[in-house]
Amino acid sequence: MADMAFSGPEPDLQDLLAARPQLQMHAQDGLCLEGVPLNAIADKYGTPVWVYGAGTMRARFAALRDAFAAERVPMHIHYAVKANDHLAILNLFREQGAGADVVSIGEFLRTTKAGIAAKNIVYSGVGKSEAELEAALAAGIGQINAESAEEVEMISAIAARLGVVANIALRMNPDVDAGTHAKITTGLAENKFGIAAEDIPALYARAASLPGVRVVGIAMHIGSQILSTEPYRLAYEKAAEMVRALRAAGQSVEVMDIGGGLGIGYQDEPGLNPAAFAAMVRQVTSGLDVRLMMEPGRYLTGPAGILLASVILRKQAGKRFLVLDAAMNELMRPAMYEAWHGILPVDASAFHASPSPADVVGPICESADIFAKDRALPDLRPGARMALLDAGAYGAVMSSAYNARPRPAAVLVDQGGFELITKRQEIPALWDGEIVPGA
Ligand SMILES: Cc1ncc(COP(=O)(O)O)c(C=O)c1O
Repeated sequence: MADMAFSGPEPDLQDLLAARPQLQMHAQDGLCLEGVPLNAIADKYGTPVWVYGAGTMRARFAALRDAFAAERVPMHIHYAVKANDHLAILNLFREQGAGADVVSIGEFLRTTKAGIAAKNIVYSGVGKSEAELEAALAAGIGQINAESAEEVEMISAIAARLGVVANIALRMNPDVDAGTHAKITTGLAENKFGIAAEDIPALYARAASLPGVRVVGIAMHIGSQILSTEPYRLAYEKAAEMVRALRAAGQSVEVMDIGGGLGIGYQDEPGLNPAAFAAMVRQVTSGLDVRLMMEPGRYLTGPAGILLASVILRKQAGKRFLVLDAAMNELMRPAMYEAWHGILPVDASAFHASPSPADVVGPICESADIFAKDRALPDLRPGARMALLDAGAYGAVMSSAYNARPRPAAVLVDQGGFELITKRQEIPALWDGEIVPGA
């Protein structure tokens, strides 16, 4: 099962380009991101290389913010750092006024290093260690979304020991099917995430009585790559009901954190429409009088990123294989979720040449190291460059050094220019920190 709903024939190269305003094909320069030729980036920094468009990320942040503004819904956007945790990207969202949603102390420290104040950070996740909670509380974290009764007790004990009071929200599991891939759905009762609705009232009351915590509200996150507002509506109606029930029971509820998960168009499916999403949120929360927060990741960074690669060789073995210098260790999503990523040749002549089916693969010794099967692509020679699209979220963050492959460089495109934001890892750095006993 792919991680998105689509039907019909795969989009051709022209369709892929036409659906992405951030990309342009120039007759001379070839494929460009925000007007910057990808060939210029590959010439300077080699391949594989991650390329991110700052303008695209700003535009997507603005689209979301403006959609809520148009509905007169005050919304606090907390960027989900796990989607892409590069310091330059965190800095960009800080400049746009975003807070952050983190799931580890590493993400928390990255985020504060990028200048996002601790008070604007929410800490989510099903298993936060004592050391992590202690460090986040000592640094003044704004909110912790607790996922179990055990965790509420743990947070209170740590906060009391530190002499601070932790703002916590209870993450409610709404038992709603988000209609997404089984590996990225999080709001079903069978998933490990959150607290069952029936357990919330008693836990809320218990939390309100504990010395180290101030329970501020309800949080929820039902999954990722969600393409319809309907599962959200169902989940948020349950959350709104819970807010009313808690208040009726005499509890104070100030915050509703509606999570992330907004889907994007990888193939030909339309991404979640921010205007429709904001209108639905207004309807469901109208009159509720809560401070609304959300935690989008993929929506903000996914379409802004490209993994730029080169063909190492063409192999004809019954079928045509294009072996790239990028592999599943860089972009895991196809191997992990059978995700579909658009692939475009960078040169204009190749873009316009007639296509035939090819499997696009990496050089790793795993059958799962496939980016695309039977993809209609032109005849690309060794050295030809290819752009794997929509790789800005859950791309570099999920990568590994499997097969002793050093981490690629990363480049930020902005205002018609580009800058290196991650140096390509040197091969000896791969064994940095390794110790051979007795040597
Ligand atoms: C708690 C929480 N918030 C936000 C997100 C961000 O999701 P997405 O990138 O799909 O918006 C995730 C990711 O699954 C998450 O677990």
